[in-house]
Amino acid sequence: MELALYGEGGFYSTGAMTGRRGHFITSPEVGTLFATVLAGALDSWWADLGRPDPFLVVEVGAGVGTLAAGIRRAQPRCSPALRYVLVERSSALRDRQARRLTLEPPSSLLRAGPGADDDDDEPDPSVGTGPMFTSLTDLPGEPFTGVVLANELVDNMAFVLLQRAECGWSEVRVGEEGADLVELLVPASPRLAEEADRLAPDAPHGARIPIQRRARTWLRDAHAKVHRGRVVMVDYTATTPTLAARRWEEWLRTYRVHGRGGHPLSAPGEQDVTCEVAVDQLATVGPPSEDRSQAEFLRFHGLEELVEGARATWRERAGVGDLQALRARSLVGEAEALTDPAGLGAFRVLEWDLR
Ligand SMILES: C[S@@+](CC[C@H](N)C(=O)[O-])C[C@H]1O[C@@H](n2cnc3c(N)ncnc32)[C@H](O)[C@@H]1O
Repeated sequence: MELALYGEGGFYSTGAMTGRRGHFITSPEVGTLFATVLAGALDSWWADLGRPDPFLVVEVGAGVGTLAAGIRRAQPRCSPALRYVLVERSSALRDRQARRLTLEPPSSLLRAGPGADDDDDEPDPSVGTGPMFTSLTDLPGEPFTGVVLANELVDNMAFVLLQRAECGWSEVRVGEEGADLVELLVPASPRLAEEADRLAPDAPHGARIPIQRRARTWLRDAHAKVHRGRVVMVDYTATTPTLAARRWEEWLRTYRVHGRGGHPLSAPGEQDVTCEVAVDQLATVGPPSEDRSQAEFLRFHGLEELVEGARATWRERAGVGDLQALRARSLVGEAEALTDPAGLGAFRVLEWDLR
């Protein structure tokens, strides 16, 4: 998975995009509504923190920068304080960010020292000069006051795959058979087997589970970087026991050009490989302060109020069918897609309040 997505010729290394012209649609790619609601959420988190300036928003797995561009367009109240860091490991995607946002050198946004913004008595000439945007390959080096945000990031992190054997656990590794990649079952290490027993004690013979250590490490790093603020993660989630009870092909999925792809080992680099996120494995970093559906989260942050006007306009002008009516219809459609209980609306938004 690591090589197929991020290695040479990997799916994301070669610039695979989300969105209508990409392989699959994510919430920021549905339209501008997701970013507009997020901009309002940023304002409320900024207010909760006492309106710090600078206010750092670090979006990890930022792709081509669609969410960042949408937040800039929405002009949140925190804009003058906003320092927005797009973290993206694919250089091909980082190159595209520069086409839609003016990116500053990282040094002009990131000051050294934990909470430099809170504890510093010196007047800072950069106060009130936002919004500013920059791009990095990894989380900033120093802790900061603000928010770490990740939409559909963790499901794309490589994991260890285990299968319940008659006695103990096997690890499903990847082997080569001629030109093909094949599954290779080897006995799991005692540490992995012990972890699997703890996470899914009732897994039946043949059941599979992911062990998502990278995701956990990433979340721990993100927590360590937030001196004061919040970590917010949006993704499709489950728990290890429920994954063990399901067919692995349901939760370890591949996508390609707006459809499902083939076996995870086929056509490496040409399809996305993604795994539902086992929240019980992440909770060891610390239980989230909030865990709600995307639909609930968006409504809590004002989605209905934003769409109310558009609904009325559409009702009044549907017969006219002018541009205003079509814009209103499109916004109503976006709201439906983002809150669809059988689709994006069922994603979970996990928040860790670290004030
Ligand atoms: C499914 S895409 C989501 C893109 C965007 N957030 C969206 O919602 O449209 C996942 C992105 O995360 C990036 N990524 C994966 N692991 C990463 C990491 N550890 N740090 C930064 N970016 C990462 C991938 O290169 C890819 O662009």
